[in-house]
Amino acid sequence: MSALDQPATASNVVTGSAVVCRGVTKEFGSGDSVVRALRGIDVDVEFGELTLLVGPSGCGKTTLISIIAGLLDPTEGEVEMLGQDRRNLTGRKLVQFRAENIGFVFQQYNLLPSLTAAENVAVPLLVRGQERLPSIQKAVEMLDAVGLGDRANSMPSQLSGGQQQRVAIARSLVNQPRLLVCDEPTAALDAKSGRNVMGLLRDVALSSNRAVIVVTHDNRVYDFGDRIVSMSDGRVECVEERPSNPHS
Ligand SMILES: Nc1ncnc2c1ncn2[C@@H]1O[C@H](COP(=O)(O)OP(=O)(O)OP(=O)(O)O)[C@@H](O)[C@H]1O
Ligand SMILES: [Mg+2]
Repeated sequence: MSALDQPATASNVVTGSAVVCRGVTKEFGSGDSVVRALRGIDVDVEFGELTLLVGPSGCGKTTLISIIAGLLDPTEGEVEMLGQDRRNLTGRKLVQFRAENIGFVFQQYNLLPSLTAAENVAVPLLVRGQERLPSIQKAVEMLDAVGLGDRANSMPSQLSGGQQQRVAIARSLVNQPRLLVCDEPTAALDAKSGRNVMGLLRDVALSSNRAVIVVTHDNRVYDFGDRIVSMSDGRVECVEERPSNPHS
């Protein structure tokens, strides 16, 4: 059984939505230079679904998913992540909650340049105190799942942009996070690799107690979404549900 196929365990099955945002705003800066990046967001991310977040550059997508993943505080509003009220998660508790439950693929991959691909993928396991050898083995399995099994010992500088992006995706999956948040995961990929990655993310989402949210500009991958949230100028403009997803 590969790392991806492991079933959800009964102990961590959660009912309800994976993420609930109500009246979420985010302002950067102050006074005359204030930027109102989010202007009152109400959105739900459901378990068992792949949610796509789309909209023009600068409309607030990265800001919103950073709040959803607990990397950024909202200015106002309520956020519930995996049944936890965001206000109750601060300091070390928030760091631990994120490490155990949330995977994040950054828009700029953020790989550690001095580590090999496999070591980069193993980082989330190593920081949780797991042993090196099984962590690296699991990391190689994940690299295999994204089509990079033969590049486990390459340094990031020896990989193309798309390959680095796939390493970052493997790293986000290695922990089997209940909530996976990806910022433009297919931006540097050709059509075939992009569809492979989206298929992989959708398999993760279909596990009953997991949820995946993907920011994308890439209309080649819209088909993979169960729900498409369109943003414009800091607001949610519309939500399209797609019960007849062809990949179901
Ligand atoms: N740290 C920051 N300080 C000041 N302004 C910021 C900061 N981060 C984001 N912004 C501003 O907030 C707005 C939303 O930015 P965000 O990065 O969320 O957009 P985006 O939808 O992800 O865009 P893109 O598609 O180009 O990645 C933009 O006007 C941006 O300039
Ligand atoms: Mg962005």
